[in-house]
Amino acid sequence: MAIDVILGLQWGDEGKGKIVDYLAPQYDVVARFQGGPNAGHTLKFDGKKFVLHTIPSGIFRPGLLNLIGNGVVIDPITLAKEIKSLEDAGVDYKGRLLVAKKAHLILPTHRYLDAASENAKGKSKIGSTLKGIGPTYMDKTGRNGLRVGDITRADFESRYNILKEKHLNLLNIYPEVAFDLKAEEQKWMDSLSVLRSLEMVDGEYYIENKLKEGKRILAEGAQGSMLDIDYGTYPFVTSSNTITAGVCIGLGVSPGRIGEVIGITKAYCTRVGSGPFPTELHGATGELLRKEGAEFGATTGRPRRCGWIDLPQLKYTIMLNGVTQLVVTKIDVLNNFEEIKAAEAYKVDGQQTERLPYDVCDTDISPVLSNHTGWQQSLDNAVEYGQLPDTARQYLEMLEQKLEVPVTMISTGPERKKLIVRETSPVV
Ligand code: GDP
Ligand code: IMO
Ligand code: MG
Repeated sequence: MAIDVILGLQWGDEGKGKIVDYLAPQYDVVARFQGGPNAGHTLKFDGKKFVLHTIPSGIFRPGLLNLIGNGVVIDPITLAKEIKSLEDAGVDYKGRLLVAKKAHLILPTHRYLDAASENAKGKSKIGSTLKGIGPTYMDKTGRNGLRVGDITRADFESRYNILKEKHLNLLNIYPEVAFDLKAEEQKWMDSLSVLRSLEMVDGEYYIENKLKEGKRILAEGAQGSMLDIDYGTYPFVTSSNTITAGVCIGLGVSPGRIGEVIGITKAYCTRVGSGPFPTELHGATGELLRKEGAEFGATTGRPRRCGWIDLPQLKYTIMLNGVTQLVVTKIDVLNNFEEIKAAEAYKVDGQQTERLPYDVCDTDISPVLSNHTGWQQSLDNAVEYGQLPDTARQYLEMLEQKLEVPVTMISTGPERKKLIVRETSPVV
């Protein structure tokens, strides 16, 4: 059996949570492989809305197993809050939510360091979600981190204190920021009991055994490929590998195990936080996209920057991920646009190119845009591909043709049911 992958092809918030939730019943296990509570995955069904940060988006499907994999960084406080909201909603998660022992823990002082380091960056700040992601991955690669499995060790408290002291010393290099460490530490210690109540597993063996039993596994990405630590718009990125290769590292599986790679793109483009965004729209059109798409962060509430879809950018992330199918979300957001644009190439130093330059953060990139006729009508009645207006289909087929990957699903609204699945999809 292979592991199928769902991941974002832009700068995050492509609608991964919705698509994972939709496809989950066809799988036995959904596994998050990287990122942490910087993620905000929104699910809407039966008139209810849930935002998941650490828990995989398969949790609302009865019987389905959900693994928080090795590559994820976990803040026990956020996890406990998420679990509480599941309990409040009457979701039976017990025995279905598992945590990999090798996943690293986000300490309160990691968040403290995140805040202090961002604050010190001034104008060049990354726009981090301040969830402690960067400092936690730094401790992981620096070989100082604490892992989930460590919470059962007799010397856990002393290990915690050693790392905390290290962080407090580090904090001296930054100007002071407000952070109530005592209160946060108390919450953190209290929430460890929730983490302890979950089943801890050796993630790599767990996945291997499931595959041997013939179970189907779906890997759920967080963030987007343009936020990848290696291949994103560095340094305006997150601290993990968000691309398909991250599945192998984050779950402990070999590359040969990867099956379908389902890449998600919005019908336009957004980014939250700082950094380059070649097709960004600063005026009324960008405002309209933000309004129609309700583009405000699911984790931080910050307004998202909006712009047109960027084909060279998508070609780049399709290449990095080996995408086998495309899902286009939020197409309904374009319903009222008379004209829709798409970047076909970039102008860099007077030269036209389809490649993202190395120094993407310091280069003036202007997009070369093509025009596409809008449909100017609601898509509420379209439940099959053939029922979409001609111009909507033309737009989708243009994407398919230029990106050389089949569009297998089209999302027409936030609700679970608002999804058109094309017959060509090998997954459904
Ligand atoms: P994720 O991080 O990739 O899971 O995406 P987010 O949940 O952060 O952001 C996607 C937002 O768009 C959420 O508010 C979703 O409810 C919403 N959404 C998802 N698909 C659609 C769609 O097809 N149309 C519209 N209008 N909203 C959508
Ligand atoms: P989902 O999974 C959108 C962005 C932040 C910031 C940069 C670094 O919901 O798509 P970090 O907190 O990781 O240090 O922030 O990455 N970012 C996201 N943007 N969606 C996300 O997750 C994001 N997670 C991080 O805004 O620019
Ligand atoms: Mg999100």
